[in-house]
Parts: sequence; C-alpha cells; structure tokens
Amino acid sequence: MALKSTNPTATESWKKLQAHFETIKTTHLKELFESNPKRAEELTVEWEDFYVDFSKNRITKETLNSLIELANEVDLKDAISKYFEGDIINATEGRAVLHTALRAKQDAEVFVEGVNVMPGIYEVKQKIKDFTDTVVSGSHKGHTGKSITDIVNIGIGGSDLGPAMVVDSLQYYKNHLNTHFVSNVDGDHYKEVIKHLNPETTLFVIVSKTFTTQETLSNANSIRAWFLETLPEEAIAKHFVAVSTNIESVKAFGINEDNIFPMKDWVGGRFSLWSAVGLSISLAIGYDNFESLLSGAHKMDEHFKTADFEENIPVISALLTVWYNNFFNAESEAIIPYTQYLNQFATYLQQGIMESNGKYVDRAGDNVNYQTGTIIWGEPGTNSQHAFFQLIHQGTKLIPADFIGFIKSLHGNKEHHDKLMSNYFAQTEALMNGKTEAEVSAELEKTTLSEEEKQKLLPFKIFEGNKPTTSLLIQKLTPESLGKLIAMYEHKIFVQGIIWNIYSYDQFGVELGKQLAKTILNELTSNDILGSHDASTQELVNFYKKNC
Ligand code: F6P
Repeated sequence: MALKSTNPTATESWKKLQAHFETIKTTHLKELFESNPKRAEELTVEWEDFYVDFSKNRITKETLNSLIELANEVDLKDAISKYFEGDIINATEGRAVLHTALRAKQDAEVFVEGVNVMPGIYEVKQKIKDFTDTVVSGSHKGHTGKSITDIVNIGIGGSDLGPAMVVDSLQYYKNHLNTHFVSNVDGDHYKEVIKHLNPETTLFVIVSKTFTTQETLSNANSIRAWFLETLPEEAIAKHFVAVSTNIESVKAFGINEDNIFPMKDWVGGRFSLWSAVGLSISLAIGYDNFESLLSGAHKMDEHFKTADFEENIPVISALLTVWYNNFFNAESEAIIPYTQYLNQFATYLQQGIMESNGKYVDRAGDNVNYQTGTIIWGEPGTNSQHAFFQLIHQGTKLIPADFIGFIKSLHGNKEHHDKLMSNYFAQTEALMNGKTEAEVSAELEKTTLSEEEKQKLLPFKIFEGNKPTTSLLIQKLTPESLGKLIAMYEHKIFVQGIIWNIYSYDQFGVELGKQLAKTILNELTSNDILGSHDASTQELVNFYKKNC
C-alpha cells in the first residue's frame, strides 16, 4: 500500500504549532528550566545504553505534544508499518525500503511482492561470514600463495561512505588487515591508495549497487590494469570480489559468480552498509563484530517500532528538526561527536539526510510550500570548538546541534576522557545559558582595564545563549552502540520525510550533473562540441582544453 499524502501545513496541529510558536519563540531556555524543575527529567529518554537529553531544546511539553499530534495527523504509525512490512514506499522507483530486514532476526518474515526475503538475506550473510573467516584467518590465499594483508573498497556514495565511516569509527576493534577506500574519480585518489600496495597480498572489493557508476567503474578498471601489470588474468579470481545487484555486468567485468556478493534493489545505497556492501566492514572488524553492529541497529528498529512517540528517540529527534526547520527557520543542523573515532560521522550522515530529504516535490507531485531537508555538517569535539563554534555561539544563525558523547573511553585514559567530556558538558551549557551583561560586567570589573575600555568591550563579550542542543550520552562506542546510533538517524530521516510529505528514498537530483558530465567528457576528449552550453561553461571548457 502506498504512503498517504498529507500536506503538513494543512493539518490542525500545524496551525496549533504556529500559534504556539508565537508564544514561545523568544522564551529563553533558562526560563524554561526555572519554571519547571522537572524539565530535565521529563525531556530525557533513557533506553538501553543511551541517555538522550532533549531538555536543552526550545520546547515545552506542550510543543512536544503538538508535534506528536502532527505525527499522528500525518499517520506516522501507518507509515512505520508500511516501512517495516516491505510496502513499496519508494514509490518513485517502485521499490520497498528494507534495510531494516537486513538486521532482523532469522525467523522474521518480511515479504516483498509475496516472497519472504529473510532466507535470501541469511544466505548472503553466511557467504559474508565464510569469506570473512577465510580472509581474516589467512587461509584465503592470493594467486601466488600469500595471505591477504590489505583490503581496498572501491565504491562511492552509499557504496563507500557507510563502510568507510564504520571501519574508521570501529578501528579500535580492527584486526590485522589494512583497509583502504577508493571513491573519487580523481585518478590521484586511487594512485595514492595503491602506491604502497602489493597486488599479491591485496583484495579488491568493488561495491556498486548498479555497477554503472562512472567513478567506481573507472577506478575498478584502472586498478585492474595496474594489477595485471604484475599478475596474470587468472589471478583476478583470488583478488577481486564485487557487491552488486547487477550480476551480469559484474560478470562482464571479469569477476566470476562465486566472487559476487549480491544485494537487492530494496536496499537504498545510503542505507546499504548492513547488506553485502558491509563486506569491507566485516573483513576489517571480523564477522562477529559486523553481526553486533547489525544487532544494535535491530534493537533501535524495535525501539522505533514499538516505543510510544513520547519516548521514541528517532521520532522526537525528527520532530525537533521539523520544529526548528519549519517554525524557527533554522537551515542547518550540526552533529558533534565527542570522540575522534566518529570523525567521518557527519560526512556519512550528509548523504543519508541530504540525499534523502533534499526534495521540493511532495508525494502528490506538487511543489511544497514549506521548507524540507536540513543542511548537515559537523566535526568531532573538541577540534570543532576551535574551528566553527564561534558562529554557533555568537553568530546570527540558529543551529540546533546533536552532541554525541560516550561515558567510557576505549583506551581508558580517564584523565583525557574527563577533559574531553568536561568540554562536551560545558559547550551545551554555554550554548544554552550564554553570558549575560551582568556576568560580563562582573568579569570585567576584575580586570585592570579602564572604565571606558570595559564599556567598549562589554557588548562583544555577551552571549545571548538560548542555542538548542540535544545530548546523546552513550555508555561506550562498540559495534552494537554504533549500530543503534546509525539506525537512530536512519529512522529520523524516515520520520522527517513522512512529515514533510516527500519521497525520501529516490535521488533523481544527482542524475542531471552525471548526464551533463558524460557529454562534456566526450567534448574534452575530442574536438566536437556535442552539447549546447551557456557561455560561461563553454569558456571554462575551452580554457581547460587549451591549457591541459
Ligand atoms: O550519488 C548517487 C548514488 O546513486 C547514491 O545514491 C549511491 O549511493 C551512489 O550513487 C553509488 O551508486 P552505486 O552503488 O550504484 O555505484
């Protein structure tokens, strides 16, 4: 059954939220805490090893209730069932959206067009496990009889960002295999990666759902040519495997069927790390850890499916985005993990969130009359504090931020971890409270500055505060907790899409540039002018050709 289509701005709850917004828009978070001593407790959700404090957001219980009414009015419950049950909710591509099935229990039943997809999922998982075990143990030998030491994942977008982020985030759990990622069609990228590699001990994992992506095929072809400079054609069988839905094209590339890890078209690229696309993850951290990642995601799926919306972490988190985006006109959201391990997390989420919800046509095919998708950015704390935090504290834009912290560090240096976490706590406190004129004056009083200098400096040192943040405090970074965290954002994306009445699972917007690039590439390699370009593009192309 198709997803329902409701313009959120036409709902009763939207009107209620608009009226409510007028009463709350200038209220300071400090006042909200003063007026309700139980606020922190009331707006915190504790679930498994997650402690999620929503109380530093510019909401009251009334706001949350109205946002939940909005979710009910657009029938979020019905949409959640359709999402998990394999309905064709990616209607523009005519597909189900079933990354959740990839982490479901073996005895679950999930039907796509009348066929239970679970046996097929577990068959591929078994293949991933068996292959991982042979490579990690060293029993998989390369063409010259040597064990594998290096893995190169060749893919882009969802076929790169998820595996790359997870492998980097879980490097503490890594085995002896060195893992590399080649994505950019920039030839310098693959050259830099292969320059220290020995083809005899390297395994290449070509990941492309469609097996038509220019970047991936170019890199795969160039790397194969480099490989064949040292080893014969028959060595490909021991050194190249592929993950794809497009089995015929993979075979045509020269990879034999045994070395293909299939995936299904109901797995969206940006949600595919749980499928065979996660092969590099499994190779890097071992199959058991890969399984823990999936099991964490499954726990979050269960939470999302069953928890009341008042206690539902992805639902509240998505509703807050709607609140800031559509009522406060906030344009972006920052993701600030307080662990260096999650260095690539915001980059990964950029694809998930912006490719999914960057849409201006609603599910009825009409242009929306409200804002959708948020701009996502971020870097780990404390580095980001010394880079862009100034703008969050004292800039003119409202930037809601998620602060992700862990109670335990992995290597156990408590002294460093306390310092790190003191910053995690201090920043959200500072963003909320700011610094009043009285506080700045008192501080200036203690200096030796003249009265005139104090007065001059005063306005620059005042922080308004009232900057919203959500604090996610998680016990420890493990494969399981990372799985939960990623799945939390996946479901947040889904809820936002349902409320904004858009289709979150296609990405037609990235196609136009790809088409034009094909035409221009032909022009760069010949003297023909094939496309009709605007004057600016034509001059740029000419200048490049003349000087390259
Ligand atoms: O950027 C567009 C996109 O289609 C992404 O959605 C996808 O993750 C990426 O390209 C790679 O696609 P493929 O896995 O088919 O090579």
